[in-house]
Amino acid sequence: MYLTRDEERIYEGEAGWTKKKAMEILVAIGDLNNASRLIPIESAHVSGVSYKTIGDAFQFIENLEGRVAVKSTLNPMGMDRERWTEMNIPEEFADRQKRILAAYTSLGIAAECTCVPYLLEGCAPGAGSHIAWAESSAVLYANSVLGAMTNMEGAPSALASALIGKTPLYGLHLPENRLPKLKVRVNCTLTDADYSALGYLIGQLAGDRIPLIELAANQHQRPDRDELKHLSAAIGATGAVGLYHVKGVTAEVSGSEAELEEEIELERRDLDDVYEERGDDVNDEPEVIAMGCPHCSYSEIMRIYRYLKSESGKRGGAEKVRRDVFIFTARRIKNQLRELIKEIESYGVKVLCDTCYVVSPAFERYKSILTNSGKMKRYVPLVCDGACVTLCSMEECIKAAFR
Ligand code: F3S
Repeated sequence: MYLTRDEERIYEGEAGWTKKKAMEILVAIGDLNNASRLIPIESAHVSGVSYKTIGDAFQFIENLEGRVAVKSTLNPMGMDRERWTEMNIPEEFADRQKRILAAYTSLGIAAECTCVPYLLEGCAPGAGSHIAWAESSAVLYANSVLGAMTNMEGAPSALASALIGKTPLYGLHLPENRLPKLKVRVNCTLTDADYSALGYLIGQLAGDRIPLIELAANQHQRPDRDELKHLSAAIGATGAVGLYHVKGVTAEVSGSEAELEEEIELERRDLDDVYEERGDDVNDEPEVIAMGCPHCSYSEIMRIYRYLKSESGKRGGAEKVRRDVFIFTARRIKNQLRELIKEIESYGVKVLCDTCYVVSPAFERYKSILTNSGKMKRYVPLVCDGACVTLCSMEECIKAAFR
């Protein structure tokens, strides 16, 4: 890969050890992928924040010096920074988690600790802008819905790009690599968690082929941002692709269908199979209900409140949820909805920030989970020792909470 004189100097260590290591990572990735050169990026989103997932590798981050070169944000960590004792997080875990957070923030990375940076003011990339984001759900949303350009970065490469302010030019940074290869025709109308179920299926079918999704002709309701958020997360969870197109909906209307290799059709019964798929020892009544994977948006929190009010209202208005219910969101979103969150919590629901069900050790004891998230359906059995996850709509989640 071609390096400018300045980039070479960084590679040789003239800008210090940290930048040298970062440049070495970018050059190794660039060479591996036949990148011609480095290009400047607008922002970076860095994963690898939870002590549960990175373990003692965090000591490497503590040794880094200097500041990031572009606006950079952090993915969720293993606990809510204010409510970790309530989450029964062991002191030792919390101490290490705090050290990880301090190490990243000392580099100038904003401690947003969310997987929906694109929902925060000032953090959404524009169409056509080059970025280096980790976190598959955010990568798919940024590429597909917003039309930004990023490869699916891992924790080291996103951090390296943040420090250098550049990324190797290959993959989804090149328009010719953003064309669809697989057409998915959906023959039923979709709403709410159907987009999680659809993404769950499409990720499995697509593998690393960019899908072009064609919604049913009678699908008059365009998917909203929340539905596209869940579609992105589920495709990223079961597939290996960083971009999808929805005909007439997403940012890049893929003009060329010339490269399509295959066309498949999905029916309502295919989605129903995803809803019905459960583990062997599933308990009909879930022990816990979790929403906010990816982190809840303002509008989702408002919907949750409406459903809680309505279900409690049917039982006289003073009724609280009868099982553990957790909602995950970004701290900035929670701070802007303080009063509403208080109301939500008055029903016995916990709204947590900075963390999520998958990257925190706090939820490992639950064996049967109800969620509206296709990504949780995929990952929770892996990280919570075979726990059974059932997918349903947000409204059904809240109804089940009162049963
Ligand atoms: Fe976000 Fe955690 Fe889900 S990082 S996408 S809430 S697994």
